[in-house]
Amino acid sequence: MTDYQAIREAPFLNLDYFTHWGARPWQKFIDIGVKTYLGEDLTEKKLLEIGPGRGRMTSLFGILGAEVTAVEIDEKRIEQARQEVKNFGVSDKVDLVLYNGDLKTLDQKQYDIIFTKSALLYPADLKGFLADLKNLLHDEGKFVFIENARGNTFVQVLRFFKRRSFNFFKRTRFFTQTEIDLVKSIFKVELLMHSKWPPVYLICGKKH
Ligand SMILES: C[S@@+](CC[C@H](N)C(=O)[O-])C[C@H]1O[C@@H](n2cnc3c(N)ncnc32)[C@H](O)[C@@H]1O
Repeated sequence: MTDYQAIREAPFLNLDYFTHWGARPWQKFIDIGVKTYLGEDLTEKKLLEIGPGRGRMTSLFGILGAEVTAVEIDEKRIEQARQEVKNFGVSDKVDLVLYNGDLKTLDQKQYDIIFTKSALLYPADLKGFLADLKNLLHDEGKFVFIENARGNTFVQVLRFFKRRSFNFFKRTRFFTQTEIDLVKSIFKVELLMHSKWPPVYLICGKKH
């Protein structure tokens, strides 16, 4: 059984819990992106998370003191995330919002931090989505994107056998240098790291 209290008391010693899936590089990039780039104390920081899924990172941000708005297109995931933040006793720090995937329909607040983990591969118009994200970021704000990279042909084949669906590939856009250049054309990238296996990018930066 999960000891939520113990994890809450030492969140960075329990990053594997918050990482939830993926191998070591995902955890390493969370460590660098969150602990080093954003800092361990996020008290009163307004944080927007895109695609919280089951809400583990959402809970981590609540534990670190952030005022979290997490926006999600899947109602089932919202319910799971709601239970997760409750388990950690941070429901009062987290606003979970079900929306249609169009950031323009959200309250146009300004956030100190924008975070994504494996979520930017879904928006069909990534350029428009990133521009809308930029509008939601405070002038002095920071972003951390931890996103799946495309990887080589071997990785593509593995993914295909895992998903067994062409539709999945039609619906997703794994990051390559093209997507990195797109992010760079919209934001000021301060830190960029890449892992070949599993293929993942850490992209951190500011609005300007
Ligand atoms: C691969 S999951 C990752 C979930 C979570 N971030 C994690 O790392 O475990 C992608 C999540 O993004 C959500 N999603 C997809 N498109 C979205 C969008 N335009 N806005 C917000 N969430 C979105 C999906 O419903 C799903 O929960």
